[in-house]
Amino acid sequence: MSKQIINSEYKVGILGGGQLGKMLTLAAHNWDVEMWALDASKDFPTGRVCNNFVEGDFNNYEDVLAFGRDKDVITVEIESVNVKALLQLQAEGKKVHPRPQALQVIKDKGLQKQFYVDHDLPTSPFKIFENEQDIQMAIGNGELQFPFVQKARQGGYDGRGVAVIKDESDWDKILPVKSIVEPLVNFTKELSVVVARNESGEVKTFPVVEMEFNPDTNMVEFLVCPAEVSKEIVELADKIAIATIEAFDVCGLLAVEMFLTEDNKILINEVAPRPHNSGHHTIDACVTSQFQQHLRGILNFPLGNTDVKMPSVMVNLLGADGYTGHAIYENMDKCMAVEGAKFHLYGKKMTKPFRKMGHATILNRDIEKAKEGGRFVMKTLKIRTED
Ligand SMILES: Nc1ncnc2c1ncn2[C@@H]1O[C@H](COP(=O)(O)OP(=O)(O)OP(=O)(O)O)[C@@H](O)[C@H]1O
Ligand SMILES: [Mg+2]
Repeated sequence: MSKQIINSEYKVGILGGGQLGKMLTLAAHNWDVEMWALDASKDFPTGRVCNNFVEGDFNNYEDVLAFGRDKDVITVEIESVNVKALLQLQAEGKKVHPRPQALQVIKDKGLQKQFYVDHDLPTSPFKIFENEQDIQMAIGNGELQFPFVQKARQGGYDGRGVAVIKDESDWDKILPVKSIVEPLVNFTKELSVVVARNESGEVKTFPVVEMEFNPDTNMVEFLVCPAEVSKEIVELADKIAIATIEAFDVCGLLAVEMFLTEDNKILINEVAPRPHNSGHHTIDACVTSQFQQHLRGILNFPLGNTDVKMPSVMVNLLGADGYTGHAIYENMDKCMAVEGAKFHLYGKKMTKPFRKMGHATILNRDIEKAKEGGRFVMKTLKIRTED
């Protein structure tokens, strides 16, 4: 007889112990499901809420195998994990969501881009390079033109691993690694759709959101839900997100980051098969949070309603520039007074410049007021160290 899922004996293992694992564990606490996490230190955010924290390396074959063997379902909160061990666990009959074969494609931006081409999913054209000399050669013989964006094939996150090369003078930014190069897309907006799927094949999208990025750090700093785009664009973004999760054939969440171009086309930028920064507002602003939806997807429950309860703006709370050390949250009291503001601090003891320390969602029926609140929090809350 198969094990009952809602039963404290049913074990879900997460590779990664960061804030996504923490919020996933918090969502599971509402149900009687036992969560386990694997990462280097119990001091990481997930360790604060997950009693079953195993210290180890999710990139190490043996560690992942040993961690996964007594779990009922294994999932991830980060892509850069040991896929070989996940394939082995899958071969031994374990449920692994997302599917390791899809994870293998997604964690390599070269394979990921080729996947879109092979599945007729819209993305910008790209070329693959072994090293920076080959890029230089391609420029020399006219195969490659400025401006372009270079991305490390593996291991990039939060904009690290992305170099925008406008002209010759940006050459010092070039990354000395295996990479893909694509044209600089002149987008009007960056959109994201978090979509979920379960083992029965049910698929549901969260409302499309609009991201605003900090031009210096390349990190999302402002996220608006619902996106201020036409009905046609909403429908197109939804359609692309659904086609993408079906093509990857994964269960749980897939966040699909997209560019909206001047001629109202949508290009897929990249995907993440896990909870995502662009879905954090769903905890407070939607009927079902992305974290609960991920659990529903990987445990094969019916997917939850994704309707927006109230429009919102989400801001990442980043470590202030110039401060590294034990974190303090200056002006938290002033920020708590912002109408409709909900704070999620991840519990990272140490701050450093631009480190993601938490996020705030500001809910307001008037989206302009929510944005005002978001701007206030961003300029008022200072995450720094004691002098
Ligand atoms: N081809 C492009 N044209 C213009 N801007 C781009 C392009 N590719 C990436 N960018 C900008 O750089 C940001 C980061 O790129 P991308 O999402 O590929 O990298 P990442 O490091 O994996 O990101 P994340 O911040 O999602 O972890 C994008 O959100 C976008 O603002
Ligand atoms: Mg991205």
